[in-house]
Amino acid sequence: MRVLGIETSCDETGVAIYDSEQGLLAHAVHSQVELHAAYGGVVPELASRDHVRKVLPLVRQLFQEAGIEADSLHGVAYTAGPGLVGALLVGASVGRSMAWSWGIPAIGVHHMEGHLLAPMLEPEPPPFPFIAMLVSGGHTQLVEVEAIGRYRLLGDSLDDAAGEAFDKTAKLLGLPYPGGPELAKLAERGDPQRYRFPRPMTDRPGLDFSFSGLKTFALNTIQEAERREGGTLSDQTRADIARAFEEAVVDTLLIKCRRAVRQCAINTLILAGGVSANQRLRQRIDSMMEGEGGTAYYPRPKFCTDNGAMIAYAGCQHLLAGESEALGFSVRSRWPMESLGGGGDFK
Ligand code: KG4
Ligand code: ZN
Repeated sequence: MRVLGIETSCDETGVAIYDSEQGLLAHAVHSQVELHAAYGGVVPELASRDHVRKVLPLVRQLFQEAGIEADSLHGVAYTAGPGLVGALLVGASVGRSMAWSWGIPAIGVHHMEGHLLAPMLEPEPPPFPFIAMLVSGGHTQLVEVEAIGRYRLLGDSLDDAAGEAFDKTAKLLGLPYPGGPELAKLAERGDPQRYRFPRPMTDRPGLDFSFSGLKTFALNTIQEAERREGGTLSDQTRADIARAFEEAVVDTLLIKCRRAVRQCAINTLILAGGVSANQRLRQRIDSMMEGEGGTAYYPRPKFCTDNGAMIAYAGCQHLLAGESEALGFSVRSRWPMESLGGGGDFK
């Protein structure tokens, strides 16, 4: 089965063609970073308009790169949520219209399920069951995954997501949007001994997360350092603060991952979502999982952030399972992944 995937939930237009026999045939992403940079964050209306401009030219480019015609497709998958509603509607209406005109089924895909399945696109995909740590701009979730479509939520963010905390702290440090990768770059030069940030919610049982306190801690640390350094921070101090913040987030995620792996007695862990591109996080998780006698899996860095390949893959699996949708459709700005089926009672 060959499926076109379309991702337009936020600030990346992603398209891809996945073939269940041949694997990923082509993928393309257009990032809106430059468009939103001047505003320091995503402007939803600008995002929708840019998706409208970019999605069809990208699909055409994709067909050319893959050297295929639309008539060889068996389905279209698009991100149906969670995300920005105006942006989602672009991918949903374009995807469904194309599917209708080609006489093939269309299917709406859950964006976080797309992230969760992204490691399946790698040459060595993780075996089921596994624990998934989803760390993106909007979500921090631990999920027990029994099979495709069989998900149990183990832990969730109570306030800011990990990526959001990275972005907000980066902004406080004067770094440009999107802050996560910029902060990680700055942290490389930082001294891990100079500052110590808290590891929120690690001293009590449970698998939920709270990162908004870290951002406040960063703000206080920056203000205090500014007073000490006479107004403007030295480059080294900014790097030291970035490093302390990154260490705290990485440690917190690691502690919760280890707890989930032990609690579920499952020694395969996957990390996915934008923050899973973070090199320090990957290194620390790798050695933690080695110590647990297990293995960690990740998508390649370009499939950690938003992309069409994960949507094409997830859509293909659902279409292969016989699912598709009637012509009417909806998109959802909020969408609990547990409602996808299986729920908490699969054991
Ligand atoms: O998954 P994603 O592309 O979009 C959402 O679904 O939210 O994740 C984007 C998030 C942003 O918050 C971005 O700053 C963060 O992932 N991110 C990183 C890194 N690369 C992206 N955070 C830390 N270190 C990175 N290397
Ligand atoms: Zn995402």
